[in-house]
Amino acid sequence: MASSFTDNYIKLEVITSTNNFAYKLLKAGEIKEGAVITALHQKRGEGQLQAKWESDYAKNILISIVLSPNISIKNQFDINICISLALHDFTKKYFKKGVKIKWPNDLLVENEKLAGILIKNIVKTDSIKDTIVGIGLNVNQIKFKNYSLKATSMKKLLEKEFDIEELQKELLDCIGLRYLQLKLKEFEKIREEYFTVLHGFNQWGHYEIEGGKIKAKITGIDEIGMLLLEMENGKTKSFSLKEITFLF
Ligand code: BTN
Repeated sequence: MASSFTDNYIKLEVITSTNNFAYKLLKAGEIKEGAVITALHQKRGEGQLQAKWESDYAKNILISIVLSPNISIKNQFDINICISLALHDFTKKYFKKGVKIKWPNDLLVENEKLAGILIKNIVKTDSIKDTIVGIGLNVNQIKFKNYSLKATSMKKLLEKEFDIEELQKELLDCIGLRYLQLKLKEFEKIREEYFTVLHGFNQWGHYEIEGGKIKAKITGIDEIGMLLLEMENGKTKSFSLKEITFLF
């Protein structure tokens, strides 16, 4: 699978959003599984919860990959898990410790955000026909705005410049390998692995919910990918991304 990502590799200088562009091309039937779109700059990079993804010109990885998993919508979140694990595999090559996934799919190094993932699924009669996997990975940028979750980069952490194209290739190899597991429907296996690297799993931590601070423990995710938290009173509640803020 890894090598098939080189079949249709579209490199752009500037675009509104690689995810949005990939979606348009896919809808128009101009690209298919394996297509990769990269850009040096996005005018309106899309982040989670309608946030803008900001990235200095030519400093970071901005990439969208088209996959056609053909899995049931019941396994929708397993795509997030698969891609998060691929990013984790990639990052672990550079950092021996402190690499974690923050639910649902942020990549953290020492509690700072190195990369984010935005996935758009195209559903056809109960199955995920196509998916656009967008990844923003901070490489050579060293100054970031004050986001609620502090941003970091490879250069900031390792104090050297990286070849972005080279890293992109390595990342695609990691995605290719994890995608094989998804195609083989190894859902249980990847879920288990996800929990071993999930920030706050089975540990008491602090969260903000409805404006109040609480202490809780992540105990799992439900079938649609909502976060399950055990409260101090022993009860378990589920939360969507917009309902919860992690406090570090
Ligand atoms: C997040 O908010 O953490 C997700 C960020 C995803 C950003 C990437 S950059 C490449 C691709 N194109 C987009 O517009 N967004 C994703």
